[in-house]
Amino acid sequence: MHPRGESSVDTALNYNYKIVKQFAIATVVWGVIGMLVGVFIAAQLAWPALNFDIAWLSYGRLRPLHTNGVIFAFGICGLFATSYYVVQRTCQVRLFSDKLAAFTFWGWQLVLVLAVITLPMGWTRAKEYAELEWPITILITIVWVAYAVVFFGTIVKRKVAHIYVANWFFGGYIIAVALLHIVNGISMPASIGKSYSAYSGVQDAMIQWWYGHNAVGFILTAGYLGMVYYFIPKQAERPVYSYRLSIVHFWALIFTYMWAGPHHLHYTALPDWTQSVGMVFSLILLAPSWGGMINGMMTLSGAWHKLRSDPILKFLIVSLSFYGMATFEGPMMSIKTVNALSHYTDWGIAHVHAGALGWVGFITMGSIYYLIPRLSGKKEMWSTRLIETHFWVATIGIVLYIASMWIAGVMQGLMWRAVNPDGTLTYTFVESVKATYPYYVIRFTGGVLYLSGMLLMAYNTWMTMRDSEAVHARIPDVVAAHA
Ligand code: HEM
Ligand code: HEM
Repeated sequence: MHPRGESSVDTALNYNYKIVKQFAIATVVWGVIGMLVGVFIAAQLAWPALNFDIAWLSYGRLRPLHTNGVIFAFGICGLFATSYYVVQRTCQVRLFSDKLAAFTFWGWQLVLVLAVITLPMGWTRAKEYAELEWPITILITIVWVAYAVVFFGTIVKRKVAHIYVANWFFGGYIIAVALLHIVNGISMPASIGKSYSAYSGVQDAMIQWWYGHNAVGFILTAGYLGMVYYFIPKQAERPVYSYRLSIVHFWALIFTYMWAGPHHLHYTALPDWTQSVGMVFSLILLAPSWGGMINGMMTLSGAWHKLRSDPILKFLIVSLSFYGMATFEGPMMSIKTVNALSHYTDWGIAHVHAGALGWVGFITMGSIYYLIPRLSGKKEMWSTRLIETHFWVATIGIVLYIASMWIAGVMQGLMWRAVNPDGTLTYTFVESVKATYPYYVIRFTGGVLYLSGMLLMAYNTWMTMRDSEAVHARIPDVVAAHA
């Protein structure tokens, strides 16, 4: 089945492309910023003097700035752009409310700017991926509710009976994030910049990692699968390999993710049986994850040759291979005996960035490359060769990043557990830090390459959009040209 709603009826419509364009540009800009901070903290790990003894440049404050910058700024702006585009195209209607959509854009940018200010100041709830203090948390809730109204309002007023599968994934992500954010966000304010979690002890840890893991499952996975099911068929000009599998994939994935959070808390005060439940559900999760990956890959059957000449398709398809890699590695790392080696080491960082750089980064970049010309009234990006260069520079960057962190991680795990015959530790901790140094330098190099690719994308986007002012009035033509 082709993504629905792509008929000639489109030509009579005037979609709201302005909001898509704003979020697409924001994705590129925040991508550069978030990755720049990533490169800087990677440099700090290799050369700690780079904090210059300035508190707000310290690693502990910039690390959450990086994760917020890449997930909530780059990642979620990409999801806003693509979900607003896809829901309009596949429902054959304009967004439910232009004003509310504009509010989500400016509201979300305000959240991000506040994050850039408050995180280096040291304001934090000390919950990973939920660091932002309570006033910002409330603002996020308001913007998110508006997002849900715009998205589901558009679904309600759709002109086609069917709800295309990409919208199921986007919708699942919007609802789940609201639920996670509200439950994990409940806290008692002590001042404008400080609050305390409503939960305590191990319950707090469990709520946090139920949130953290599902942030991976619903933001870093379900949302991007929405992109997979729209942009891969469109770019490959092939129908989704199995529409039936896409529906099974959706329900299996969202059901299973919810239970896997305890794998972040192995060997902690969490009851042992809860850890085992987390492990078992993580192992089961391999099946729906790979079902989705295979469905996306097989969509290319009959069109594999396009991979040779189409760099956008390269981004989209290679992202799926990294998705497959991360979702194989994750279940393995959730096995308690494996986790005993991997936890606290850079193996975790390798896993995260196989998912983050390879999967989340590439699927977003491919989708945004698809969108930019269509939003600018151009047939294609300013330079296809630059997209190709971006692809290769970034791929080499990822390989350097994750291979160095895998080696460093396994090495650290082995060094920490090595014991002499008399029971004393073979290595001091600082020896493992010293041994990691060359790998931190390699990771930094990989990061510089990945960031350089992002800069090429920014330049290409600028050149493509530079003289596209007059396009707004011609949107129906653009739609017709590309439907
Ligand atoms: C079947 C799917 C997956 C499973 C079962 C899984 C499992 C795991 C496990 C066991 C850990 C290590 C926990 C620890 O020792 O602390 C982990 C960490 C992590 N994974 Fe995955 N993973 C999966 C897919 C992904 C994907 C696709 C991404 C996307 C980027 C991702 C992002 C992360 C992140 C960000 C962390 C680090 C969390 C933290 O400690 O801050 N995972 N995952
Ligand atoms: C230029 C590219 C990037 C570089 C150089 C980079 C570097 C880093 C560094 C140095 C850390 C801290 C590792 C540690 O504490 O040991 C980190 C953490 C993290 N990064 Fe990146 N990063 C990049 C891109 C991204 C992207 C695009 C994403 C997501 C889409 C991402 C998501 C994360 C996450 C979730 C963590 C926390 C991992 C954890 O706690 O286990 N990064 N990154």
